[in-house]
Amino acid sequence: MSVDVGGITVHQGLLEPSQQEALVEQVRRVAQAAPLFRPETARGRKMSVRMTSAGRYGWISDRAGYRYERRHPEGLEWPPIPAIAMDVWRNVSGVARDPESCLINFYDADAKMGMHQDRDEANFEMPVVSISLGDEALFRVGGPGRGGKTQSIWLRSGDVAVMGGAARLNYHGIDRLRPGSSRLLPNGGRINLTLRVVD
Ligand code: SIN
Ligand code: FE2
Repeated sequence: MSVDVGGITVHQGLLEPSQQEALVEQVRRVAQAAPLFRPETARGRKMSVRMTSAGRYGWISDRAGYRYERRHPEGLEWPPIPAIAMDVWRNVSGVARDPESCLINFYDADAKMGMHQDRDEANFEMPVVSISLGDEALFRVGGPGRGGKTQSIWLRSGDVAVMGGAARLNYHGIDRLRPGSSRLLPNGGRINLTLRVVD
């Protein structure tokens, strides 16, 4: 089933449990090759999520600001985008191009993500596709300007959100997790994969 939240389409339960498990395994292999790190913002604040990336580009943040980089902070190239994530993109993105970046965010029970726009990419005609795994998360969606009215939805394991068209630059964030709401990850928490075309 698909629902519209402030212009963002959420395909609920798109990945069935066996596919979620297989994708977690693929994410583990990415994190073995390109270890999770806790990025800093330009203002020197540690983000509460840990992250890594796959694909031609990875998204990073440090004192120099937000940007895409061809290499992990430790110097290696990013591993390939997990095959199941690639399949999800091809099924729901509605565009012919493949993604060039798969950001992998790991949320522990207390992690959150402040309201922001995804705007470090060159082509806003290309959508953003975001996959949720593990514990449920309260996703808040606003409009293209900061402030103003927002709507919220609990994203569950296997849900896929597509931010495209008029909603491509909508503000969004994760207010909080519902710890213990999924048994997919043995130690709890949540994984979000964000697929994007960068150039
Ligand atoms: C993000 O927009 O950066 C993450 C969204 C999510 O975790 O679902
Ligand atoms: Fe985002």
